[in-house]
Amino acid sequence: MNLVFLGPPGAGKGTQAKRLAQELGLKHISTGDILREAVKNETPLGKKAKEYMDRGELVPDELIIALIEEVMPPGGGVIFDGFPRTIAQAEALDNMLKRKGLNLDKVILFDVDDEVVVDRLSGRRVCPSCGAVYHLKFNPPKNDEVCDRCSVKLIQREDDREEVVRNRLEVYRKQTAPLIEYYERKGILIRLDASKEIEEVYQELKKVVAT
Ligand code: AP5
Ligand code: ZN
Repeated sequence: MNLVFLGPPGAGKGTQAKRLAQELGLKHISTGDILREAVKNETPLGKKAKEYMDRGELVPDELIIALIEEVMPPGGGVIFDGFPRTIAQAEALDNMLKRKGLNLDKVILFDVDDEVVVDRLSGRRVCPSCGAVYHLKFNPPKNDEVCDRCSVKLIQREDDREEVVRNRLEVYRKQTAPLIEYYERKGILIRLDASKEIEEVYQELKKVVAT
């Protein structure tokens, strides 16, 4: 099974993808996570991507498409989280899957409004060591701002600052939202109310993926 998780920044795609991938034995491919790792390690990709990410702009399609080609398992079984984000990326994904004799089963749209996004991103904290994602109010660590697994002090993502968040929302509206219609036309788009609490969203997600 191959799934795409689509939706605005902070909709909860990553939180749900990690858990569902583990439960269903799928590979979780988050372009955001891969890019952040590349930036941290100062790889050639990371050096090219950093300035775009800091501004909340999209990294150029050709870099992202090459990246996906590299990490895609030959037999499929993937949750794509944060990819595709443009029509060009969606077309490249279609072509790649076709070449491999695979197809896209479902695209889950994480539906939330802007206020929820701002709330979720302003309270998000991440572990700089293992990448675990928390929220100060909605999914707090056991000890004050310290990772449950690593005991390392949690940090805020650079692009979760308010002015960058506003730009990311704008970029989503202009460049990524057209994918809703693209996948609706293919008949594989499923809307999920992602404004509910984490556990409720997960149960609903499992239902729509299974049917
Ligand atoms: P990326 O990392 O993909 O960012 P994003 O799409 O903006 O998504 P987020 O990671 O911000 O949010 P999420 O939906 O995963 O939410 P989360 O689960 O963390 O991309 C970053 C940058 O990389 C882009 O700006 C771009 O520059 C570049 N990039 C990446 N992919 C690209 C591509 N394909 N093409 C071009 N450029 C690309 O949840 C958010 C918070 O809310 C957390 O604190 C969480 O604990 C909490 N939370 C989650 N669910 C709930 C809930 N139900 N109730 C309450 N709180 C919740
Ligand atoms: Zn950690």
